[in-house]
Amino acid sequence: MASSTLICDTEPWKNLRAHVEDIKKTHLRDLMSDTKRCQSMMVEFDGLLLDYSRQCATLETMDKLFKLAEAANLKQKIGRMYNGERINSTENRPVLHVALRAPRDSVIQSDGKNVVPDVWKVLDKIRVFSETVRSGSWVGATGKALTDVISVGIGGSFLGPLFVHTALQTDPEASKFAKGRQLRFLANVDPVDVARNITGLNPETTLVVVVSKTFTTAETMLNARTLREWISAALGPSAVAKHMVAVSTNLTLVEQFGIDPNNAFAFWDWVGGRYSVCSAVGVLPLSLQYGFSVVEKFLKGASSIDQHFYSAPFEKNIPVLLGLLSVWNVSFLGYPARAILPYSQALEKFAPHIQQVSMESNGKGVSIDGVPLPFEAGEIDFGEPGTNGQHSFYQLIHQGRVIPCDFIGVVKSQQPVYLKGEVVSNHDELMSNFFAQPDALAYGKTPEQLQNENVPQHLIPHKTFSGNRPSLSLLLPSLNAYNIGQLLAIYEHRIAVQGFVWGINSFDQWGVELGKSLASQVRKQLNAAQMKGKPVEGFNYSTTTLLKRYLEQRSRI
Ligand code: F6P
Repeated sequence: MASSTLICDTEPWKNLRAHVEDIKKTHLRDLMSDTKRCQSMMVEFDGLLLDYSRQCATLETMDKLFKLAEAANLKQKIGRMYNGERINSTENRPVLHVALRAPRDSVIQSDGKNVVPDVWKVLDKIRVFSETVRSGSWVGATGKALTDVISVGIGGSFLGPLFVHTALQTDPEASKFAKGRQLRFLANVDPVDVARNITGLNPETTLVVVVSKTFTTAETMLNARTLREWISAALGPSAVAKHMVAVSTNLTLVEQFGIDPNNAFAFWDWVGGRYSVCSAVGVLPLSLQYGFSVVEKFLKGASSIDQHFYSAPFEKNIPVLLGLLSVWNVSFLGYPARAILPYSQALEKFAPHIQQVSMESNGKGVSIDGVPLPFEAGEIDFGEPGTNGQHSFYQLIHQGRVIPCDFIGVVKSQQPVYLKGEVVSNHDELMSNFFAQPDALAYGKTPEQLQNENVPQHLIPHKTFSGNRPSLSLLLPSLNAYNIGQLLAIYEHRIAVQGFVWGINSFDQWGVELGKSLASQVRKQLNAAQMKGKPVEGFNYSTTTLLKRYLEQRSRI
């Protein structure tokens, strides 16, 4: 396919369009009774099991999807990413988050230079620094050890690290290493978030890590200045050097902010914000909390999937299969959303992280060449851990709209509980739901079944489940640092696959800029009105009215 050709103009895309009619005639109830089909829709890798037999797809569908992948030059695009080519063309940058977790002796080139030694230089610096802090050798301005960390950052400089932290918190090994320590995240520019973060913390024992790729993000910089003030007010301005460190690609701005460049941890333009959790963005705060050895296992898990994604044939390649099935669901079956349903409380921040990775990456309206897309790309992601979600939005998923679901389950609980006299362990109880829900969605319940159960006639329409609602199940052996790394990389690559097939740039985010620049005009207006009494002007009727009301009520506070 020529690079400027839209994927929807290719034969494989048209074939899939035509194939939708065949699939519409099937029902998962029947598809699931074909054992051969189900067998071939299971993939195992490195302890993980993916079962996609509950997708509204046949072996013919899969075959057609592999042809689509070929037409989209998927293999070549993955290769170009791993080769450090500037595939993020609108920002003229390579996309090399795989280098962040590559083994020390591997070679990954960007612009003719192996970037792996630079990655490990920073990782080694983090290892040393985090051990110095954790051992109490690095002390604060009053000589006390720094036991608490606030990581200040937003978007990709927050959501990934928060997901991993939340997942590790109850892991037996990680929590042992975190004893006596706290890690908090300050993201929102809302002063309420500052108040919540510093409540119960003593500046004397707190280390602030300012995390910002650009070091210009308005929210992060104001929050960083607010915490700098919190430290200076309590301990004097010179304390900042002991109590604040930074993670950024912009070391000049870090220094201008007043942070000692020796206490800055670099990363690179070839790491996108939402793909940066394996850089110092995540590795520094997580190592301070759990120790570098735990975080290294997380990196190894991600690296294992990187190698699988690069080398496994598409039929056995978990991220590729997931990405192609998502394209099938969104672009052909017309299901615009995806529910991420981990049956693990430790994964409660997984869906929020994937929301950014997926929607900031693939929420695009034009092809990588700037041609408006005549089809919808991107996906609406949301989710909650089961079983909480079951008591919230599952009603809609079962009887309302069709939303393809990702069920994520874990064999070994991080915190098992066995109560004497109970039928099953607490984890088995949780997992009973993990196994039951996909079948409820797939099979549904027919009016005939309800009649046989003597359900009153007037309730039959209400109690009928149409079924034929697609899902997939991913079963992890446990949820330790390694598995968390695997899960992260699977989703990162799956989302890249979707973007590669749709022919968009999954690595830029121009859509966030307009709101930022309008907010800066409002900021100027608020300042001019409140400091110099300037009237509100230059906004439309609606915004002017709202601003006037806001300013008037603020003046009375
Ligand atoms: O939301 C837009 C965005 O640019 C994200 O892509 C990024 O993760 C976030 O802002 C934070 O950016 P920075 O790390 O530069 O502060």
